[in-house]
Amino acid sequence: MTLLDENQPTDLEQMVGLSRRRFIGAGALCGAALFLGGGLMSRSTLAQSVKAANDSLLGFPTIPAATTDSISLPPGYNASVLISWGQPLHTDSPAFDASGNGSAKAQELQFGDNNDGMSLFPFPGDENRALMAINNEYTNYRYLFPHGGQPTSAEDVHKAQAAEGVSVIEVQRSNGQWQFVQGSPYNRRIHGNTPIRMSGPASGDAWLKTAADNSGGKVLGTFQNCANGKTPWGTYLTCEENFTDCFGSSNPQQAFDPGQKRYGASVASKDIGWHLHDPRFDLAKNPNELNRHGWVVEIDPFDPHSTPVKRTALGRFKHENAALGETRDGRAVVYMGDDERGEFIYKFISRDPIDHKNPTANRNLLDHGTLYVARFDNGDGNPDQPKGKGQWLELTHGKNGLNAANGFANQAQVLIHARLAASLLGATRMDRPEWIVVSPKDGQVYCTLTNNVKRGEEGQPVNGPNPREKNIYGQILRWRESADDQGAMTFDWDLFLIAGNPGVHPGDAKAGSANITPQNMFNSPDGLGFDADGRLWILTDGDYSNSGDFTGMGNNQMLCANPTTGEIRRFMVGPVGCEVTGIAFAPDQRTLFVGIQHPGESGGSTFPEHLPNGKPRSSVMAIRRDDGGIIGA
Ligand code: FEO
Ligand code: CA
Ligand code: CA
Repeated sequence: MTLLDENQPTDLEQMVGLSRRRFIGAGALCGAALFLGGGLMSRSTLAQSVKAANDSLLGFPTIPAATTDSISLPPGYNASVLISWGQPLHTDSPAFDASGNGSAKAQELQFGDNNDGMSLFPFPGDENRALMAINNEYTNYRYLFPHGGQPTSAEDVHKAQAAEGVSVIEVQRSNGQWQFVQGSPYNRRIHGNTPIRMSGPASGDAWLKTAADNSGGKVLGTFQNCANGKTPWGTYLTCEENFTDCFGSSNPQQAFDPGQKRYGASVASKDIGWHLHDPRFDLAKNPNELNRHGWVVEIDPFDPHSTPVKRTALGRFKHENAALGETRDGRAVVYMGDDERGEFIYKFISRDPIDHKNPTANRNLLDHGTLYVARFDNGDGNPDQPKGKGQWLELTHGKNGLNAANGFANQAQVLIHARLAASLLGATRMDRPEWIVVSPKDGQVYCTLTNNVKRGEEGQPVNGPNPREKNIYGQILRWRESADDQGAMTFDWDLFLIAGNPGVHPGDAKAGSANITPQNMFNSPDGLGFDADGRLWILTDGDYSNSGDFTGMGNNQMLCANPTTGEIRRFMVGPVGCEVTGIAFAPDQRTLFVGIQHPGESGGSTFPEHLPNGKPRSSVMAIRRDDGGIIGA
């Protein structure tokens, strides 16, 4: 097999893509000059420096697509399991029971299911110890229960709720290998019934009050925890995504109001079935419970007894992740995507500056600030690399028509119905915003727009950053805030890549942008991560049929891109039926942690243990180089 990408560039012009990609030109060279630093360079010295930096950024060959029930990596790399679904967290936790007969209580004491976004928190002054906070997004009934179907009892529902949320674990390094520490006093589960506090402008609002909580400020549980964020003050942000799917109604005639409809409320509960055995999730009985979910939740991993807090100032929608930035004058910025077809991209800016010297002073920083939503122009229409301009629209009660006459009596209602407020302001409907990351090198922001088969239908016309009808492959959007200040109200955008299949669809829009080749093609970019050297890691949650429009793409995978040149190489392929999601790096970049979610979601996998007739188990993998070197270099 040929591991080297035959499209690998060989000289500066190809390296910066000038011949193939007009968009990378002066801007990228300027950015490169910025991070290379140090005064003015001659044009040739600059060119040599850019080439040297770009030559060394991706130090591994692109690997072939694969359909095996295993992890594929470039030569010289290895993968081991850090932790898997059901692993006991405490010394007295019950062992994983592959039969599915383990209790709800046992699951509350074990690593949750379907790990997703995660962050690593080193212990100050000890390079061999760290905590990891890891989301457990949902659970697969096929494997959770012996009956393999929807919950049939309150105990079943309780067990499903126990499998979701967040796991906090301690990890320690010995002989270069990071390992999970069972029994650490920091190990903790936060799940669908953990007491959580609500804070910020919506806390205490009438719309958050229920029979069980007349304060509107104390809620049970977080679930459908998709991706994550890590604050500069050492806390973890977990993002509630498809929360509406957990609700249903015992009243088949129940009529939903526009707010409930916009968040997807339905009688049938999307095959999750909690409301049939837990009245908290029955919209006929507890309609306001729905408003208490769909938030970003802040957790202090170093205090296992702390109460997690839902930060309502960041708005309520189907949160994918939360990417932290900072304004020129030192305030916190949180970029967030709402993952549904035609939904929006948001950013929050704190009122007060971050206190970098005193982390605990930032404890309530995310309770005060302003939420904005993005509007993009139609751009220049370049089919390979469209670019244009955009602006941030303020979601503050009393401004921009957000008043009682339009259905918003106060700021709490603006935040609880952030989607409706953003629509009123004319925000741009996007192709399912998934993860957002901020480049550590130049502050540009990248967002995966995973796919949208309804683009082009009524109400969702093709537009600048969403350029294809019936978009089955997705794209990665990038923007640079004006004057490189993340507090800016305007920005310049372009598409970093447009995914496609140049093998099946050569020469048309489904081929994707010029940096997509038969050697690196993939669909539905979802997870994103930057390492400290500025490599952009791309994780996929796409169609793994390896047929039709997806022929040659194989299983879901992880790729690595050079943000300056646009070059992309396939780094890892996951096992059968998985999604690759969740990424974190050890501080020395010599271990990459990556999540394998729902291997064998429809059968066909026994990953990672490969026991005869064994169950597949979602797992966090630790990727290392055989020579102990920096990952990707
Ligand atoms: Fe949980 Fe949008 O992915
Ligand atoms: Ca995702
Ligand atoms: Ca996805």
